[in-house]
Amino acid sequence: MEAKDLRKKFIEFFISKDHKEILNSSLIPENDPTVLFTTAGMHPLVPYLLGQEHPSGEKLVNIQKCLRTGDIEEVGDDIHLTYFNMLGNWSLGDYWKKEAIEMSFEFLTSKKYLNFPVEKLAVSVFAGNKDAPKDSESIKTWKSLGIKRIEPLGKKDNWWGPAGETGPCGPDSEIFYWNSSEEVPKEFNPNDSRWVEVWNDVFMEYNKTPSGKYEPLKQKNVDTGMGYERVYSILEGVENIYQSSLFTPIVEKILELSTSEDEKSLRIVADHLRSAVFVLAEKIIPSNLEQGYVLRRLIRLAIRRGKLIGIEDNFTSKIARVIIDVSKKDYPHLDKNSSFIISEIDKEEKKFERTLEKGMRVFEKISGKKISGKSAFLLFQSYGFPIEMTVELASEKGVDVKGYYKELEKHQKLSRTATKGKFASGLADQSENTIKLHTAAHLLHSALIKVLGSSCEQKGSNINPERLRFDFSFDRKLEEKEVREVEDLVNEQIKKSVKVIKKEMSVDEAKKSGAMGEFSHKYGNKVFVYSIGKFSKEICSGPHVENTSKLGKLKIVKQKSVGAGVRRIKAVLE
Ligand code: ALA
Repeated sequence: MEAKDLRKKFIEFFISKDHKEILNSSLIPENDPTVLFTTAGMHPLVPYLLGQEHPSGEKLVNIQKCLRTGDIEEVGDDIHLTYFNMLGNWSLGDYWKKEAIEMSFEFLTSKKYLNFPVEKLAVSVFAGNKDAPKDSESIKTWKSLGIKRIEPLGKKDNWWGPAGETGPCGPDSEIFYWNSSEEVPKEFNPNDSRWVEVWNDVFMEYNKTPSGKYEPLKQKNVDTGMGYERVYSILEGVENIYQSSLFTPIVEKILELSTSEDEKSLRIVADHLRSAVFVLAEKIIPSNLEQGYVLRRLIRLAIRRGKLIGIEDNFTSKIARVIIDVSKKDYPHLDKNSSFIISEIDKEEKKFERTLEKGMRVFEKISGKKISGKSAFLLFQSYGFPIEMTVELASEKGVDVKGYYKELEKHQKLSRTATKGKFASGLADQSENTIKLHTAAHLLHSALIKVLGSSCEQKGSNINPERLRFDFSFDRKLEEKEVREVEDLVNEQIKKSVKVIKKEMSVDEAKKSGAMGEFSHKYGNKVFVYSIGKFSKEICSGPHVENTSKLGKLKIVKQKSVGAGVRRIKAVLE
């Protein structure tokens, strides 16, 4: 099998095993507001792993774009990336360990698919602890398939999740491939980097609660993730991801502009700018908060590395262009947003240029001794120095990194609390009030469009039992009269006692039916569409009340601007 067919073949294999392909979601999580980015394929599936019905059934497959900043220190080695693609399959309370492992094995070793020699495989399994027993079932299954190297390891290595602070998690079994021309050793040593982890089968039967307890989930789920870029490199016969054709055009362009070939710096520039391009494609712009903060760090760390390898002129937009060209076949939204991506990355580079020199002067003054958290924060806040860069510059003198994060947290606290549950369907809980407000949010969205025009696109929502918050694109304050009109329209629908109807359909059908929702990432999968009479029709994962008569009376209590062209409304039900 050729590397270029990996996406297609993976999906094809699991469809042949009765799985349904689901959407490749946005990099910005819709269902889990406790983290800034989608970090795994399971992330958009959290409500379904917890027991909610999925419109496409119990066996799912997809390819998911992911971003992990937790691995940023690792970037520069042979296998770690901040942005990557995950090939995943799921069982939502359907098949369990034996079937999951057998399917992974078949895809890895079958001639028709990856055709990896069995002798080049090794696996790790969960050794057991106070929360869960040793995974004997996985050991037995791997043995029956002829795998000789099976290593039981502890929680640090063989437990996965939750993705946020709470939620589904469980023991896992990781699959490693010997990616070296040297002879395969008899023993498996997980610390030998020639053993590349390619796939992770997670057995999600626990839910981590806010108090840190592990409770059994309603259903036993399987969640797997295979590293696309890693497997792609193996199929191309190269020993690290940067030598694969997913990266070579990017690395070559960087080399063309630089005077040094320092491998680590080249890799960091390639990785960080690639991540930045994908974050920008979600219409996030660099800032000091939330996703924008991560984006800013990625771009600036890349610029600093670029300088270290002798790149003199502005270069990020040139590399971004190549990154877009390499990935646009799989991700047409990059091309569609290319002028935004290019101009924003260039703007950020110029901005950094303006403060870098001044910041360096301040840095020189304070760098005689260990840099305090306050100073590191000042360097970030006033001169845009990413913390990783300050740490690198300070070298052995050191930086109080903990102190820096304390300062940062003070600064971000308000906004972070506000971020919890920011995105569509980001319900804080599933209490009766929250569900009512969720239905009210659909009515509000339609009413805003009717009063202010179709440019009012949803930008986020946050709902808790007390109130709903709704962000939408609109570039001025609403007049008092408009606020009343919106309220009246919603309350009219409530008074009419309209039934809320849930229908399962394909994305195409949903689109044709005129349902509102973010379609750009949703290919070929089933979705739920919720209609409230003729007034509102939206793609949504629910839950909602059955009839608008349950809602009481909507009152808009606040409105404000939350960034260029985005307004926020807070409303309650009385
Ligand atoms: N969610 C699992 C992982 O990310 C599959 O490794």
